[in-house]
Amino acid sequence: MKSLKVNNLTKIYSSYKGAKEVTALGGINLMVNNGEFVGVMGPSGSGKTTLLNILSGVDKSTSGEVFINNNEISKMKKDDLALFRRKNIGYIFQDFNLLDSLTLEENISLPLILDKKNPKEIESKVSELMNFFNIGELKKKYPYHISGGQKQRVAAARALINNPAIIFADEPTGNLDSKSSNNIMTTISKMNDEIKSTVLMVTHDPFAASFCKRIIFIKDGNIKMEITSDGDRKKFYDKVLEVQGFIGGEN
Ligand SMILES: Nc1ncnc2c1ncn2[C@@H]1O[C@H](COP(=O)(O)OP(=O)(O)O)[C@@H](O)[C@H]1O
Ligand SMILES: [Mg+2]
Repeated sequence: MKSLKVNNLTKIYSSYKGAKEVTALGGINLMVNNGEFVGVMGPSGSGKTTLLNILSGVDKSTSGEVFINNNEISKMKKDDLALFRRKNIGYIFQDFNLLDSLTLEENISLPLILDKKNPKEIESKVSELMNFFNIGELKKKYPYHISGGQKQRVAAARALINNPAIIFADEPTGNLDSKSSNNIMTTISKMNDEIKSTVLMVTHDPFAASFCKRIIFIKDGNIKMEITSDGDRKKFYDKVLEVQGFIGGEN
């Protein structure tokens, strides 16, 4: 089963204040199967953020189709799309986006509360996920009580709370030191390996990318190359560096 299917997706930013029109995506075709962990890489300005924003329903394409679990989100009206996103999509943001005024338990359960799910059901789902990420004792704590590594795990638990069809991660290791980067990538890998979550992650970081099972390289709004891991992370890391060498990296 396909978690994500993208047909001939284009995005043109129209001209503004004398600036020229920009073709940010030139016709992207992409399939992501259930349980895959796919990375998207490419030089700065290649269209990564534009692609992620359209796939996650934050922005509209100029043309083309996006299906998530066979639902065509590119055709949905705004309200339907907002509801669909809450029920079917998970996000991991670079800065975690936890709400400081809510406990960790409340942060994680927010999408289910909004959906008016049964409180018992919410509690058991939250417990299950917090235990899975070894943060079970922190339910009543607030974001300012916990470490960066714990925040990442709260963010991961929140991304999973609605059993999403797909999880989008945008530069999850963006500003992190190497230890924190390793922690968050281990957490995302664990979601993919043990919960069989489908993950699509944009990154410019070869270390983060080495955790993926497949990587798509885009340049000038088009997919230029795709590589697949055989499970050997060190080897895949070297392969990423090699491809970045001729496609161009972010740094
Ligand atoms: N809101 C916008 N208006 C006009 N041009 C944009 C806008 N957002 C991005 N672009 C342009 O689209 C191209 C792709 O940008 P982006 O998706 O941000 O690339 P990346 O995330 O790979 O750095 C770039 O040329 C960028 O300048
Ligand atoms: Mg970007």
